[in-house]
Amino acid sequence: MTGAWERLRLVESLVKLPLYSAVGVTSGRLVYSSNVEGVRDLWSLDLSTGSSVRLTRGGVSAVAAVRPNSPLVVYAKDVGAGRELHQVFCVDVWGGEERAIEGMEPRRVFGVEFDGEIVAVSAASERSVELWVMRPGGEAERVHKTRSIIVVSDVGGGKVVGHGVLRGDPRAFELFVFDLESLELEVFTPREGSLNRAPRLWGSKLLFATTAFGRERLVVYDLETKELAEPELRYRDHEGYDFTEYVTYGWTADGRVWFVGKRDGRTRAFVDGREVPLPEGCVTNLVPAGSRVYATHSSLASPHSVYEVDLESGKRRVLLGAELPREAAERIGRAYMVRYKSADGLEVPAFVVESRAAPRPGPTVVYVHGGPWADVADSWNVMIASLAALGYHVVAPNFRGSTGYGEEFRRMIIGDPGGGDLADVVSAAEWARASGLADRVAIMGYSYGGYMTLLALTKRPDVWSAGCAGAGIADWEEMYELSDALYKSFIGVLFAGRSELFRERSPITYVEGLKAPVCIVHPQNDTRTPLRPVLRLVERLLELGKTFELHVIPDAGHAIVKVEDALKVLLPMALFLDRYLRSGGGGRG
Ligand code: 4NP
Repeated sequence: MTGAWERLRLVESLVKLPLYSAVGVTSGRLVYSSNVEGVRDLWSLDLSTGSSVRLTRGGVSAVAAVRPNSPLVVYAKDVGAGRELHQVFCVDVWGGEERAIEGMEPRRVFGVEFDGEIVAVSAASERSVELWVMRPGGEAERVHKTRSIIVVSDVGGGKVVGHGVLRGDPRAFELFVFDLESLELEVFTPREGSLNRAPRLWGSKLLFATTAFGRERLVVYDLETKELAEPELRYRDHEGYDFTEYVTYGWTADGRVWFVGKRDGRTRAFVDGREVPLPEGCVTNLVPAGSRVYATHSSLASPHSVYEVDLESGKRRVLLGAELPREAAERIGRAYMVRYKSADGLEVPAFVVESRAAPRPGPTVVYVHGGPWADVADSWNVMIASLAALGYHVVAPNFRGSTGYGEEFRRMIIGDPGGGDLADVVSAAEWARASGLADRVAIMGYSYGGYMTLLALTKRPDVWSAGCAGAGIADWEEMYELSDALYKSFIGVLFAGRSELFRERSPITYVEGLKAPVCIVHPQNDTRTPLRPVLRLVERLLELGKTFELHVIPDAGHAIVKVEDALKVLLPMALFLDRYLRSGGGGRG
């Protein structure tokens, strides 16, 4: 039998695992991000000698694509102790000094792109969403201001391109092309009401994902001829896979199209239509460089690592990666996908990770992902891995609204957050019991998952033995007031403008109903899901005599970039579950 402290050590070993993600190749060096020194920073690896240098200190957030015509890496860095007040910096790949680009007051940067000369940024202040343009060593200039969501995805040839909610339809994304000479923003969509994402430039051509013709596919639009065409691919390995989503895509230096397609939570990667041979799981990023490809890969059972693949021979090796500690690997069991029926009959996909350290039926956690436009896939998730290592089976539903299962499914949450999605989460617990996996069930999530946790515990209290809410949402009304221009728009899109639902969909409205003990963990300086409304919820818990824990992570923000802060999220939750789920001391029993 493993004791509580040994179980905490397992969590510590998983949180401290070094993770790696490829950014790009230039000047014979692979730029990558890693938390190997305790915070997610940028590094560069000399591809001829294999030696690495650290490029940044103190953590980075958004990182621009690296270009073969420049030795610079451009990235955003939080200078507000987690408040997501970013400045844009650059550093050369040999590890020179980090230099800030002057002229932009720190603000939320949620898109940064670089063409080797010009940097384009989407950023938000309290009042507006903005486009900024700057050069390394020059002054930043604000070139566009709006209240809509606009996300930069590429810059080149005097144009900044991206997508956004530009015609006021919360279900749609249109593309924009911003001309750096005329300073005019042109909106383009192949079909009104369709979802169009992340255009990537090659000369006058835009490669992007669109739902204009049914299920998501990749198309190429020529800005000069105004013609829309399918990408031209030399090989046809991708045919027959029926991908529901294109995770990432782009152009090689010589103008061939590469992409990563996803279906049922697993991906396959292709360069010019030829498959890049990789193990089962998910590729989150792909960097083609000449005859080689650097792929960031992981699965529920293997942490993010970078593979180097030779396209001609198909030979691959792990260039950067860490092994799962053996004690944890031995306790993490089978990972597989199931589909279950929700209350209204909707079929909901979910990933299940069994624990070899739990009986069957045994203590189980419904893990709810954030976003809500995201999913749990066959890719590394330190929370899920920690739960399985601790001795809990995990059911992670891709509730309605999740991405990766088609546009119709993604849209089902718009105008109804905390409605049908809550029913899906409750049904996940019921499925876990009915299938013989669970004898008692807790719920856990971070961000939108923290919101669902609080809502499920208060509105559907009879389902749960315990719950852990990280960076949750307690009150949509107060949160909206505290949000900046980007998140006000985001909430507007999520609710489709139906602010009359705010009260009905807020956990604080149902706080009296709470039965199970709850563990609340929240970053002090979170500006996406602010702490203040959660403190008001906690005050109510105190008044009502409910069983709860509150852990505030000092000087941290919504995005956890430090390993130490990740421990401050997971260790209290692990200890709490040890008391209230493992020993069955919770509300439902
Ligand atoms: P996430 O955070 O789950 O980490 O993406 C969120 C922040 C804000 C909102 C939802 C999720 N919101 O609805 O405003």
